[in-house]
Amino acid sequence: MDLTEGLPDLGALESHIGDCHRCALGDTRTRLVFGVGAPGAELMFVGEAPGKNEDLQGEPFVGAAGKLLDELLAGIGLSRSDVYIANIIKCRPPGNRDPERAEIETCTPFLEEQIRLIDPRVIVTLGNFATKYTLATDSGISRIHGRLFSVKGRKVVPVFHPAAALYTPSKKDVLAEDFQRIGVMLEGDECDEPVAAPGEAVAEMATGPGETAPGPPVDAPDAEGPGDEPEALRLF
Ligand code: URA
Repeated sequence: MDLTEGLPDLGALESHIGDCHRCALGDTRTRLVFGVGAPGAELMFVGEAPGKNEDLQGEPFVGAAGKLLDELLAGIGLSRSDVYIANIIKCRPPGNRDPERAEIETCTPFLEEQIRLIDPRVIVTLGNFATKYTLATDSGISRIHGRLFSVKGRKVVPVFHPAAALYTPSKKDVLAEDFQRIGVMLEGDECDEPVAAPGEAVAEMATGPGETAPGPPVDAPDAEGPGDEPEALRLF
């Protein structure tokens, strides 16, 4: 079956990916980590890449960062079976090094197809890699976490990566706050409020009277990076 024409379901996509050796990570991984969760989830998480435990078990976020993700989900009344969890790339980079651009370009068509099939209302990007890819932005996660973006009509909320939060207690608190906002957003009508595309003024994700998203808009002069115009890599 041809990916460009769209596959009928996630099972067909997993079969299509198969015992993938489209990039060199296929030679060093133990197990390909396709993704896990509800095929019709309203909320989808996109992480970076499998780590050691994920590589061994074939499931995303099963290590310490995954335990924190489970706790954060529980904090908003959800479990992993209510959501869908996937990564930017499906095989572990050796030694947990950063994914390379060619690996991302090779693998992300599968993520895009997953998103098309799952059709989530909201995507939460976990950490810098998933955020920079999804929003095609150079803005760092510290600046734009917790805000609501629109990418081709779909809502995207970047948050700190749970692994980063494990090392920095203050980030853990911020991550928990951002999850509370996501919970409120999923329950209410906030999802229908106007949101901004990357590179435009960023909508504030109000959760109550007087509450505003932290930091300046991503297109403010002091934003990190040279700008937020979408570049070659793109989602949806
Ligand atoms: N970190 C990620 O980004 N993804 C995983 O699946 C595990 C750890």
